[in-house]
Amino acid sequence: MNPIIDLRSDTITKPTPQMRQAMADATVGDDVFGEDPTVNQLQKKVIKLCGKEAALFVPSGTMSNQIAINAHTQPGDEVICDYGSHIFNYEGGGPALLSGVQVHPLQGQRGVITAEQIKAVIRPADHHYAKSKLIELENTHNRAGGAIFPLDEILKIKKLADKHQLKMHLDGARLWNAHIATGISMAAWCDPFDSISLCFSKGLGAPIGSILVGSSEFIDCAHRYRKIYGGGMRQVGIIAAAALYALDHHIERLKDDHKRAYQLALKLSDLGATVDLDAAQTNIVIADFTKMGRSAQEISSDLEKMGLLALAISPTRIRFVTHLDLNDEHISNAMTILEKVLS
Ligand SMILES: Cc1ncc(COP(=O)(O)O)c(C=O)c1O
Repeated sequence: MNPIIDLRSDTITKPTPQMRQAMADATVGDDVFGEDPTVNQLQKKVIKLCGKEAALFVPSGTMSNQIAINAHTQPGDEVICDYGSHIFNYEGGGPALLSGVQVHPLQGQRGVITAEQIKAVIRPADHHYAKSKLIELENTHNRAGGAIFPLDEILKIKKLADKHQLKMHLDGARLWNAHIATGISMAAWCDPFDSISLCFSKGLGAPIGSILVGSSEFIDCAHRYRKIYGGGMRQVGIIAAAALYALDHHIERLKDDHKRAYQLALKLSDLGATVDLDAAQTNIVIADFTKMGRSAQEISSDLEKMGLLALAISPTRIRFVTHLDLNDEHISNAMTILEKVLS
């Protein structure tokens, strides 16, 4: 049996020996007291990279998004986002449960909701309505197959947000991928937003950790929510060291993940699956098998028998994600398996 090729997610990567060494060597302190030098170094580095005033290291992307929603809103407010967004689909109803807010999802195209669409749903000042308070965007967009949210549309949304005094939060779990795919700096991507959540445990290959970035006032408020959510960690420099290592060594290489994902997208399309090739801009490929008359579950189970793991995300669609633990040979073997199962 060939070794397993795991294309289910970019979160399945294991820390490299060098990353583990950096973790073992980390200088640590009690981060709840703000005394962990490695966490402080990481926060400073990300502040500089993103051109914001402050940052807060948190355990997960979900906690980071939920803290941001909590810090920007009051119960009864409304959050405008895309229908396929992570905060609406995969965070356990957190906005309602933790912040008491109502989510107003809009049907985007490849995860992109436009300024025009948002303008149409901003609530007038009338006591019948929830208060529109926050616009949440996702870049790159997970459910839209890693598609990039174009910066010019974000800038139009920012103008609208300013006019209506709405806050803007970015779920940038994979913003690194958008940065590498476009050459647009992290600071330029972050500039229009009041808060940005970035993950180290996806394409960057760290075992744990996300970071929330924004103004000093916002992060001060977020800090309190992190405590309330139980996300205050102690000698967590051991983990921050992995994130620092990833920032230094694993950003540029994302272009290899993107190239390999596109190869897979082309192969799947050649074999008869429906793939939005224009959406395959980064490290995620979503293929629809309706035309082939077989269910996603059936195909993923056949792939698994041959050593290829991929995630059936609906009765007709399978997600394939490239990442740090895969090389060109894995992709070439994956394509051979796809040929055998789909031909
Ligand atoms: C776009 C996006 N946002 C947020 C998250 C949540 O991250 P975590 O699993 O660290 O909570 C994910 C996880 O895959 C994601 O894909």
